Amino acid sequence: MGENPLHPRASARPRSGPRRALVAGALAVLGAATALAVAGPAGAAASTLGAAAAQSGRYFGAAIAAGHLNDSAYVATWDREFNAVTPENEMKWDATEPSRGSFTFGAADQIVGHAQGKGMRVRGHTLVWHNQLPGWVQGLSSANDVRTAMVNHINGVMGHYKGKIYAWDVVNEAFADGGAVGTLRSSVFQQRLGNGFIEEAFRAARAADPNARLCYNDYNIDDAAAAKTRGVYNMVKDFKARGVPIDCVGLQSHFGQVPSNYQQNIAQFAALGVDVQITELDVGGSGSAQADAYRRVTQACAAVSRCTGITVWGVTDKYSWRSGDTPLLFDGNYGKKPAYDAVLNALNAANPNPDPTPTPTPTPTPTPTPVPGSCSATIETTNTWPGGFQATVTVRAGDAPVDGWTVRWTWPGGQSISSLWNGVQSGSGSGVTVRNAAYNGSVAAGSSTTFGFTANGAAAAPAATCTSP
Ligand code: G3I
Repeated sequence: MGENPLHPRASARPRSGPRRALVAGALAVLGAATALAVAGPAGAAASTLGAAAAQSGRYFGAAIAAGHLNDSAYVATWDREFNAVTPENEMKWDATEPSRGSFTFGAADQIVGHAQGKGMRVRGHTLVWHNQLPGWVQGLSSANDVRTAMVNHINGVMGHYKGKIYAWDVVNEAFADGGAVGTLRSSVFQQRLGNGFIEEAFRAARAADPNARLCYNDYNIDDAAAAKTRGVYNMVKDFKARGVPIDCVGLQSHFGQVPSNYQQNIAQFAALGVDVQITELDVGGSGSAQADAYRRVTQACAAVSRCTGITVWGVTDKYSWRSGDTPLLFDGNYGKKPAYDAVLNALNAANPNPDPTPTPTPTPTPTPTPVPGSCSATIETTNTWPGGFQATVTVRAGDAPVDGWTVRWTWPGGQSISSLWNGVQSGSGSGVTVRNAAYNGSVAAGSSTTFGFTANGAAAAPAATCTSP
């Protein structure tokens, strides 16, 4: 697995110089010749990444940083080779809403404006993420405050770019590395709103720009069988089953090694009925080993019709967040590396209509071993209106972890649930039973998760019982 994207290594400038430039130049010539020799399915090989990807209906994008737009070679390479862009940092919360309710879009607008002028797709990155979050958000202490701030942020940023964004990374990196399948990382969102914050964010995002594709984006979910992948898989499956709006999964794909089951992984997400996008590709290394890895990634995407595009996390090694690993397609002098040729050839060879993706056997979710544990549940009314109300139910584990929970209560005055999320309701009438959803049954000792509902009738918060498993 690649290094932890949250802890980039110190930047080290790649070696450059005449010899390196000569080698790179020679490789570029060789690469161009190879590209021309490989006729794509359309009969003629395209000579740039974007054009080659477009032959099979895909895009090929790069992360772009506004701070480098004064580097003419950088912009020229972007314009020539790529037909999509992701602003690398400019749409993040600290850049767009540094103080509450004050939105700043200058740097992101520069990138979006340039991209629009060239007819490129724009991926929006990212709305709800624990990182690059301004201090004022970190300091919010009540659930309602975090919810209001999160929804306002989604509305403010998505509203500004409404109609201009192909796909949004609505929630980024919410799953923990390690722990039981489905464990979310601790963040101000998870702590104050419980695991349901992801669903709340996606619902708000759909309302804010109904035409943008809504993605969940993460790293270390590239291996089909990894626990973190299984957690995200279960969540997407549950969202699709319950009609929570989600259109795509972003595999960041910051690689050292490409997992052997990477294509199977893309296929298993696609089989859930979502698009897959490779969103932040970079592969440490050089020469043919790096080229082989890039080829495999490109071929894996090309083999699955719902893999709609690839974005590399930067243009040139010299500006990469992990520049010491020389992980990109262009060297520090904008010379094409062997990896560039491998990608171009693989894109040119892609079948525009790959055979229907064989339905893979989804990674089986192991039957959880019941763990004895006790739990408690409390209902809190969060909003009311004439004839109805909204509530959040907090499910808390006792001294032992809980693996599966059931919450029950009785309505005092004829109330009825109209919509429920992050749980599975059964029964009808005045007695209510709600079991955990596929992804939030495991609650660590002393921790909590939440589900929510809207109901008809007078606002009520009756006592609830919780049993486990
Ligand atoms: O712009 C300031 C500069 O003014 C200041 O002098 C300098 C001092 O440290 O910092 C500069 O900001 C840096 C910014 O990148 C722009 O270069 C930040 O410190 C640095 O933290 C920031 O790193 C970004 C990182 O996300 C932060 O988490 C990387 O550029 C960006 O590539 C990286 O992208 C993430 C994706 O969003 C999510 N997935 C992982 C990926 C890689 O970490």
